[in-house]
Amino acid sequence: MTAACKIRPAIEHLEDSQIVDVWKMGFSTPDVVGLWVGEGDLPTTKFICDAAAEALAAGKTFYTYKRGIPELQRALIDYHRKLYGIELTEDRIAVTSGGMNAMMLIVQMLISAGDNMVCVSPVWPNIYRAVEIMGGEARQVPMQGREDGWHLDLDRLFDACDARTRAIYVATPGNPTGWMMPEDQRHAVLDFCRSRGIALISDEVYNRLVYNRLVAPSFLEIATPEDPVFVVNSFSKTWAMTGWRVGWMVMPRRVTPALDRLIEFNTSGGQPFLQAACVKAVEEGEEWVKWMVARCKSGRDLVLERLAGMNRVSVIPADASFYLMLQVADMGSALEFCKRLVVEGRVGLAPGTAFGAGGEGYLRLCYAQSNERLAVAMDRFETFLRKN
Ligand SMILES: Cc1ncc(COP(=O)(O)O)c(C=O)c1O
Repeated sequence: MTAACKIRPAIEHLEDSQIVDVWKMGFSTPDVVGLWVGEGDLPTTKFICDAAAEALAAGKTFYTYKRGIPELQRALIDYHRKLYGIELTEDRIAVTSGGMNAMMLIVQMLISAGDNMVCVSPVWPNIYRAVEIMGGEARQVPMQGREDGWHLDLDRLFDACDARTRAIYVATPGNPTGWMMPEDQRHAVLDFCRSRGIALISDEVYNRLVYNRLVAPSFLEIATPEDPVFVVNSFSKTWAMTGWRVGWMVMPRRVTPALDRLIEFNTSGGQPFLQAACVKAVEEGEEWVKWMVARCKSGRDLVLERLAGMNRVSVIPADASFYLMLQVADMGSALEFCKRLVVEGRVGLAPGTAFGAGGEGYLRLCYAQSNERLAVAMDRFETFLRKN
């Protein structure tokens, strides 16, 4: 007889993603326009791919620096200087395996069993699961969606913190909301974290996907290198590189030695040939990013215009990320609605419940697609609503 090995309960009972639940249904349904996952329809642009191929051919295939190759660290320092006029140093930057790995490393560094992290929700649910993997509690503080956008009540955020709170997590711009934390709130949250010795994790992976300015405001603009502030970023969204799995974090100087050790036991560092291509993306990708952001804006405007003409639908406006949160009158369970929409309407949306408290009653739509595909999706959605 073979005895089964014992998996830690926190892992055995990890919740599956509802986004994936719906997405999987699309595999058995032909010709679905999927607006459910957080990526667009564009493959990575050629000059970035070429740079990776060249680096491979040049033999950049060995183990490398744990926090990233020096060329990429320097390119990121220049990038942050150009975007925000700030001066970072190499010791505060770690290149990671996507934004997700940066989040997980930070959580591993901060959360012991019984600790908690207070998260502004609705938000990409992976942060909740990362905390749960460590035996911690992810506390969700829901925002309110109103006709003019999403709103966070800071008193509720601060009230959710107690002696076991090790971090506040905020995604700004947010997924699925496109919300950006206003300036007065950024200062208030930073002051609160400073005074309580709580880490502030600012997830800024959508910082370039903004439609009324060049870049979203960053906590890096107001924090000092000694503040307990971690900023997560990624190549995935800005340069359409989701499959590459490269991201980075900016951290307080004091944690660098601990993070260096931790990376060794997670990934032992990244892939130098991918990082060489990331240098190109950062240094030469600006025109492409502008083009891609304009394309997303045009997609958003098309979707907003079409949804405005559907009488059961209301949308919370957003000037950032590539998502919209919408409500459909009398839709019942969002998950069941999304499943029917895939099979009968051949359009893929994500249920708002996948993103935690505050997401109930909503559907998330990702509009990072060509206008042609979005128009097809909107036609189908309208037809489906008429029948359901
Ligand atoms: C808010 C947020 N943070 C982080 C990530 C992680 O992105 P990646 O791991 O692809 O860099 C995502 C991906 O959807 C996200 O929406």
